[in-house]
Amino acid sequence: MSIKFDSITSELNISNATLLNWIKTDCLTADKNGFVTTKSYHYFKENVLGKNKLNKRANKQYFDKSNINFSVNKNNDANKSSVQYEQSLSIAERNKKGIYYTPNNSIDEMFFALPSLKETDTFLDPCCGTGNFLIKALEKGIKPENIYGFDVDETALKIANNRFYQATGQHSNNIKLFNLLEEKHEQKYDFIFTNPPWGYKFNLQQKINYANKFNKGIKVDSSALFVLICLDMMQKDGMLGVLLPDSFFNIASFKSVRKILLKKTLIQLINHNKPFEGLQTKAYSFIVKNNNHLTNVECRTKTSQHSRKQTDFIKNPNYIINFDATEVEAKVISHLYSYPHQTLKGKAQWGLGIVTGNNAKHLSITKKNNDKPIYKGIDIERGKIKKPQFYIFDDFSKLQQTANKKLYLADKKIVYRFINSNLIFALDNKQRYFLNSANLLILNRHTLFIEDELAITEEQLVFLMNTKIMNWLFKRLFRTHKVLRSDLEKLPIFDDFFTTHNNYCEQDLHQYLNIEEHDGTFRVKA
Ligand SMILES: C[S@@+](CC[C@H](N)C(=O)[O-])C[C@H]1O[C@@H](n2cnc3c(N)ncnc32)[C@H](O)[C@@H]1O
Repeated sequence: MSIKFDSITSELNISNATLLNWIKTDCLTADKNGFVTTKSYHYFKENVLGKNKLNKRANKQYFDKSNINFSVNKNNDANKSSVQYEQSLSIAERNKKGIYYTPNNSIDEMFFALPSLKETDTFLDPCCGTGNFLIKALEKGIKPENIYGFDVDETALKIANNRFYQATGQHSNNIKLFNLLEEKHEQKYDFIFTNPPWGYKFNLQQKINYANKFNKGIKVDSSALFVLICLDMMQKDGMLGVLLPDSFFNIASFKSVRKILLKKTLIQLINHNKPFEGLQTKAYSFIVKNNNHLTNVECRTKTSQHSRKQTDFIKNPNYIINFDATEVEAKVISHLYSYPHQTLKGKAQWGLGIVTGNNAKHLSITKKNNDKPIYKGIDIERGKIKKPQFYIFDDFSKLQQTANKKLYLADKKIVYRFINSNLIFALDNKQRYFLNSANLLILNRHTLFIEDELAITEEQLVFLMNTKIMNWLFKRLFRTHKVLRSDLEKLPIFDDFFTTHNNYCEQDLHQYLNIEEHDGTFRVKA
């Protein structure tokens, strides 16, 4: 006895490719006529499917809704369905739609901020998924009739409704299909807590629509748009808590939404580390109140707690919310920015390293005629450049991406490692070529306007960028593994130091800035 392929693909809601994959990996047996044997199919359904025995490749696309019981009734375990549903989605689909449900301990950490509740308090998760936040809100004592949950995923909503029913014995009309980005909603809520979709892959039309609709100069990114909309859905004095990727708190593209956020009273910031299984991204959350009493913000990690002034974040470049820096460290940051300084913005030409498109083809370890040495980021050390390990034919026409050749051939250029959390800078006056793990800048000289030039030498700039204090500042502000031009352009360049110090060392700079190193960090001298 055997079964046709399309009966199986439609019963399990899988693609033909997945089925072939299961046959290839011996999960199922095909007979000589090209059908699946009934025996192997029954065994597979009973013993393998949904029991995590499929190898990763075979499991990837499998999504069998029929295996998940999400009907609203008392008999199935709706909490289990929630976990099963999440596991049944492929990584690709979860990433595309930003579907990562929030683990209970992260919700507990956020709910720590809840005050004592009133009978009438309302609670919303505007993209509730299978209802993790809603169930926790019930446990906290929000009245069932005051709990609201929206989502665009019908299956997740069925599970959320079933969990709600099992927890309360009541059906809810408030947990429903609603697209927060497309539909209008006037009601305001006392508490809105959520983990919105991160990096949802919008199509071009959606991007254009949302850019026009929200038009506040903010990045068309799902998490930023959700934050913006939720800020408008709070009751006066209401509270909003949102779990977000750590990049939300520091990268330049979220600057405008951070500026809007910082107009509300920020009460808590939490570092949740890496809360999602199988995901390396770090998650932080903020909790704000819908009023404007800017005071101290409680900053928490799993093991420590400190407080920061909200005004510190407002004063930071790009409204960076660098809450892992302590109050003492924040003082050093604003102290450094209070010294006379310039920035690199508008005072240099910038260039990227070369992308060959195929290093194996274009680079060689022996030098032939017409070859020139080419250097990688790793060949740059503080203040020096190591011997080359590779050579390249001196003709850029076949390479995938290069800056204008004259930038590489400048008399004096400053080069730095690109993929790094440290600043590692060197001066190149030998017209070297660099691969894209390094970037370069050339200081403006002989321009019409003095404002377009830095009043220090290339050697002085390299010294400054390599100092411990600049590295400390760079890490404390930007917490990044990429040395981006936009971040470098925000750093203070203490040009006055060099006018008063002909010979200089790091100790002189510390003295000039009135700071001292202490326990691996810096503090302002008493
Ligand atoms: C990261 S999950 C979080 C779910 C839930 N808030 C939690 O924390 O467990 C994001 C959810 O947003 C939903 N979603 C995506 N776009 C949406 C939209 N435009 N309106 C409402 N929900 C949306 C997804 O279906 C998904 O369930």
